[in-house]
Amino acid sequence: MLSGLNGRVVIVGAGHAGGTAATLLRQYGWTGAITLVGAEARPPYQRPPLSKGLMLGKVTPQELQLKPEGFYAERQIELRTGTCVTRVEREAQRVLLETGEALAYDHLILATGARLRPLPVPGIDLAGVVSLRTDVDALRLRAAVQPGTRVLVVGGGYIGLEAAASARTLGAEVCVLERENRLMARVASQELSAFVTGYARSKGVAIELSASVVGFDGEQGQVRSARLADGRSLPCDLALVGIGVLAEQALAQEAGLVCEDGVVVDEEALTSDPRISAIGDCTRRPVVLFERNARLESVHNAMEQAKQVAARLCGKPQPVAEAPWTWSDQFDLRLQIAGLTSPDDQVALRGDTAGNAFAIFHISPQGLLRAVEAVNAPMDFAFARMAIGKRLRTPGVRLSDPAIPLKDVAIA
Ligand code: APR
Repeated sequence: MLSGLNGRVVIVGAGHAGGTAATLLRQYGWTGAITLVGAEARPPYQRPPLSKGLMLGKVTPQELQLKPEGFYAERQIELRTGTCVTRVEREAQRVLLETGEALAYDHLILATGARLRPLPVPGIDLAGVVSLRTDVDALRLRAAVQPGTRVLVVGGGYIGLEAAASARTLGAEVCVLERENRLMARVASQELSAFVTGYARSKGVAIELSASVVGFDGEQGQVRSARLADGRSLPCDLALVGIGVLAEQALAQEAGLVCEDGVVVDEEALTSDPRISAIGDCTRRPVVLFERNARLESVHNAMEQAKQVAARLCGKPQPVAEAPWTWSDQFDLRLQIAGLTSPDDQVALRGDTAGNAFAIFHISPQGLLRAVEAVNAPMDFAFARMAIGKRLRTPGVRLSDPAIPLKDVAIA
């Protein structure tokens, strides 16, 4: 194990998690070498705006950078962009780069993120069949979407729905194809799915549920239509595939670390090797407040685990466990979701779905507030996030009563 604050730390993956870990290590007093290695060409940047602000042309790639130019050099953080790590050698305590170079470490942090779930159908390689994971993808998409462009979105999750809203706002004809019988099935309740479906349709987005794409057809290498399992063929100029992500765990797995749909870590982001931590989308982690393990895909998760590892390495107290949360912007809706739901939760609605501002609270059989799904209701969201973190008990009937202020609802 490391002693003192001056060992060599190598961070693999320069996304939100990796960039934050490097920054916090310095902030918490780490004096040893920090090397941040990332495959992408640019320094760490925020990914959530790719399907919103960047696609709409409201922000530039430079504005999305986590830190300004010069930040890393000023703090003696060696940033190696455009560089792939090909192997972790645990015995030798070093990582190998595609250039043939080796970087020795005293502690290694894997922040490799997630990769796109592939859609293995004929025609997937046609021009015009695209995905959205990087700033380069978002800029290409923006250039391709014009008023009247027929955009077919495969996948009705966060990426699909946000990109569909942005494309529609840019004047495209948009159709979303979702394989499940409701939108956002992985992350949202039935109630929220139903609301989002109605809202997107009211904005002119066509939504097809229980719809599976079995192939794309093209002319001269360019996509022209998608074939569905029910035999229909839907014409399109552009097809965006956003059907989820998989933990990028290949390096960890090849190095023999324990992986179970994500690199398995403890509540301080340590892997099965005491010299290797893992943070962010690539991990499967304990969610302390919920007494379960989960793979969380969110900025909050990246930040929280970056704090855990930086605090541990620098001998600082661990951060207090918080409710996991995330958000999504679609048209003029701001969705904010905190906590984790269970099938036996009771649901209480506060606010007005017709007015597009409400919160859906999820309460366990023991009366604990476990999750909230807020739509244009930031105060309700903030209250619930706090209450979930403090494990407050809240009777659903009181939550649903708009006459009772939220601060008077919870019972400690
Ligand atoms: N055809 C149509 N839909 C499919 C198919 C398929 N073959 N396979 C999966 N889907 C649907 C899923 O049912 C789900 O509703 O695609 C959706 C994927 O949604 P998410 O899991 O939310 O993933 P995605 O939208 O791709 O977002 C990926 O980016 O914004 C972040 O936090 C977000 O981490 C997430 C990531």
